[in-house]
Amino acid sequence: MDAAEVFWALHSDLPREGVGSDATTRTLLALAAPLPPSPRALDVGCGPGRASLVLAGAGARVIAVDLHEPFLRRTRRAAQDAGLGGRVAVERASMTALPHPDGAFDLLWCEGAAYLMGVDRALHEWRRLLRPGGALVLTDAVWTTATPSAEARRFWVQYPAMRDEAALVAAARSAGYQVLATHLLPDADWTDEYHGPLAAAIDAWPDPDPGTAAVLAEARSEAEVRQAHRDEFGYLALVLRRS
Ligand SMILES: C[S@@+](CC[C@H](N)C(=O)[O-])C[C@H]1O[C@@H](n2cnc3c(N)ncnc32)[C@H](O)[C@@H]1O
Repeated sequence: MDAAEVFWALHSDLPREGVGSDATTRTLLALAAPLPPSPRALDVGCGPGRASLVLAGAGARVIAVDLHEPFLRRTRRAAQDAGLGGRVAVERASMTALPHPDGAFDLLWCEGAAYLMGVDRALHEWRRLLRPGGALVLTDAVWTTATPSAEARRFWVQYPAMRDEAALVAAARSAGYQVLATHLLPDADWTDEYHGPLAAAIDAWPDPDPGTAAVLAEARSEAEVRQAHRDEFGYLALVLRRS
């Protein structure tokens, strides 16, 4: 197996593909009020669809988009199993070329995926999809100290555009949004449904060859760096309204 195959094997059954929880999704939805009783919502980079399910369960009509077909299948099946199949439609589309008309949504949602195209670009390009007064909720990694350790900086070298809360808020304002709230995700949102299940999948790997063992060690280091440096970085939600 090459590194990409090991990655997908580890990630194919995780409850979610990043930091978050159903409780946090509900908190953020409440912070985005007022919304229509049955808002038209777009979940961008939906992964296995946890946020889509929470939004649909709260009454939203959700379109869940992702590029990875297995995640779209999981999202569709989970919605059907939860009796929410009529409220969640899945579409294969890129976040960089969303095919929906201007003003199509009351609510745009993106947990842990906007960084893939760049948060600034996402803020600008997705704004047209919201009706005036519509809400955008996204989460992104942030520095929570001005003096991160060398190890934390080394880990986040993969995300050179990472900022602190003030810079992220300023970027949202200059892109034409009112900032309704910010919310730093709790520690449990890193562990319970992301790093914990990932560690279990790594532990359960049967007899890895040396190449696979190196990829597994790299995957494990993500949680280790977080544990060792959790006062230095976090995951921040921005709850925004299109001005
Ligand atoms: C870190 S995961 C977050 C998934 C999900 N929101 C969650 O919290 O579980 C990022 C997601 O973005 C998807 N993705 C990557 N590039 C994309 C693109 N250009 N357009 C849409 N989705 C993309 C990946 O397949 C993956 O599901």
